[in-house]
Amino acid sequence: MMNGVMIRRITAKDIPQVIEIQESIIKNKVSKAWVQSIEAHLKKQDVVGFVYLRESQVIGHIIGEMKGPGFGLDQSGWIVVVGVDPSCMGEGIGQALAKNLFEYFKKKGVQDIYTAVRWDAVDMLSFFKSIGFNRSEFINLGKHLE
Ligand SMILES: CC(C)(COP(=O)(O)OP(=O)(O)OC[C@H]1O[C@@H](n2cnc3c(N)ncnc32)[C@H](O)[C@@H]1OP(=O)(O)O)[C@@H](O)C(=O)NCCC(=O)NCCS
Repeated sequence: MMNGVMIRRITAKDIPQVIEIQESIIKNKVSKAWVQSIEAHLKKQDVVGFVYLRESQVIGHIIGEMKGPGFGLDQSGWIVVVGVDPSCMGEGIGQALAKNLFEYFKKKGVQDIYTAVRWDAVDMLSFFKSIGFNRSEFINLGKHLE
């Protein structure tokens, strides 16, 4: 730990703080489905996440997942969720968390990393660009069922 700051692997015990961060980002309650999805992800073997702590308080999180063959790739890494407490944004926390996740993927032999961002989420796009993401060779397709 340096200056009361630490990055460590996420555990299920961090979920309440992750929810708190997400709710302060969206200024709303998260849905039950969102919480269940995070809980389910953390139970999976190929999922890894990190939390950023300052004075023992979780102020940022990132969760990634490794996927086996699919989309024409043998192995890929996906960023499932990333969030930083709004009062601590812009301090390099997101970048530090991403660096840890990339190092983990690299150790596991994963070279291709993907994520999906809403087209109008300019802050997220700018963040992902800053950590080396670019447009991928895929396009997302969507359809809404009534
Ligand atoms: C996006 C996010 C994860 C980035 O983490 P962070 O710790 O704030 O970002 P960092 O300090 O590591 O920033 C790294 C780079 O990302 C870019 N960036 C980060 N936040 C940005 C913003 N709000 N607008 C534009 N660029 C941004 C910048 O290029 C920045 O580099 P710089 O500081 O040298 O300019 C964090 O701000 C966040 O959780 N935002 C909320 C996202 C959201 O609204 N999600 C919707 C619900 S899923």
